[in-house]
Amino acid sequence: MDNNFDVIVIGGGPMGLACAYETGKRKASVLVLERFQFLNQKGSSAGTSRQYRIPYPDAYMVKMALDAQPYWDALQLHTKTPLMDKVGTLWFGDPTVVSTEGNIGAAEKALQQLNVKYDSLTVENIEEEFHFRNLPKNYTGLFQADGASINLKATLELLFELNSKNPCVHLKENAPVIKIERKDGIFYVSTPEGVFTAPKLVITPGPYINEVLKLQEFHVAVTYWEMSSAYFRKTDPNIQYPTWFVFQNAIEANGNQFYGFPGVDWDFPGYIRVAPDFVTEPLTNPENASRKPDPQALGYTAQWVKDHMTGLGIVPEHTSTCLIALSNIRNKELLLDFAPGYIPGHQDIAIYATGWAAKFIPFLGKLLADMALDGKTDYDIAPFQLGFKYFTALKR
Ligand code: BEZ
Repeated sequence: MDNNFDVIVIGGGPMGLACAYETGKRKASVLVLERFQFLNQKGSSAGTSRQYRIPYPDAYMVKMALDAQPYWDALQLHTKTPLMDKVGTLWFGDPTVVSTEGNIGAAEKALQQLNVKYDSLTVENIEEEFHFRNLPKNYTGLFQADGASINLKATLELLFELNSKNPCVHLKENAPVIKIERKDGIFYVSTPEGVFTAPKLVITPGPYINEVLKLQEFHVAVTYWEMSSAYFRKTDPNIQYPTWFVFQNAIEANGNQFYGFPGVDWDFPGYIRVAPDFVTEPLTNPENASRKPDPQALGYTAQWVKDHMTGLGIVPEHTSTCLIALSNIRNKELLLDFAPGYIPGHQDIAIYATGWAAKFIPFLGKLLADMALDGKTDYDIAPFQLGFKYFTALKR
């Protein structure tokens, strides 16, 4: 392998691997630099399942979820392992609550705007059809049938395997980036494994985003959540849940929003995953992650399961964590943009950062590859762009 490439991707998680896959398909040479090992459990893709859902309070997010579907279908053609278990998305709860995921009524409007079919539900429907119980009488909900549990582990392994087989794609692990310089239109990216060059950079290091951006003297405003998950044994072997999210007002440290998954054979078979969509203490530095679940948040989750779910044990028997950077500016959503104008070569640096974006993996890979190779994308990324004012120059 010589050290010169068409594109260098910094960050070998799902977005970096998906971008390399799309770049390699276009026969451009691409190097992916991963600071740890590929398929590690240290970032936003730790754990094995994620939710694919179409309901969002904003039409542009609904559209992006729909636009991602054909890219999932195309990826699925490469493996017999199902990448998704399509059990539907159930959103329910207090209709007045506006949470990090939005609001049920706003999501209904956005779904209608894009002609997406869904069913509106009463509290009785939710209890009778979906096994929840003792819900407050004012709760409402919606069910959208295309929602799924994503087999994230299989997705990552597939992207890794496809990249490994493509001679255009080079994968280098244990290669944290320590310096980025630019001379005569070429980036020189230094790692303990050597210096690599390319005219284009794609930056996708998940929670380590600011570790990389600071090498170019700017950063994004983020908070870090080390999210916890719990697995509850099925006491009724036939019980099944869709992917779901409950909207409720926070009660002090109890953020009181929970989400859950169906039982699947790839993630603790015989168990159902339920998780708090809050942390009791955000982190200010990803290096402070403990990789241990938060006992307080898990306690609230177990209480909710006991009070409102059926067919499950009430003790979390397995747990997992994942570390995610969330945008302070864009209501925790994803950011997709070129570097800001004051960075030398800004138009040659594509960045994906922050947010819950597993459902978009193959599509974001395609957008990032286009941004790197064509210097643009025809997709309307305006809702995800930060613009100069949101980036903070560190020295200047
Ligand atoms: C999501 O689908 O974006 C999501 C689901 C559960 C928790 C957080 C985010």
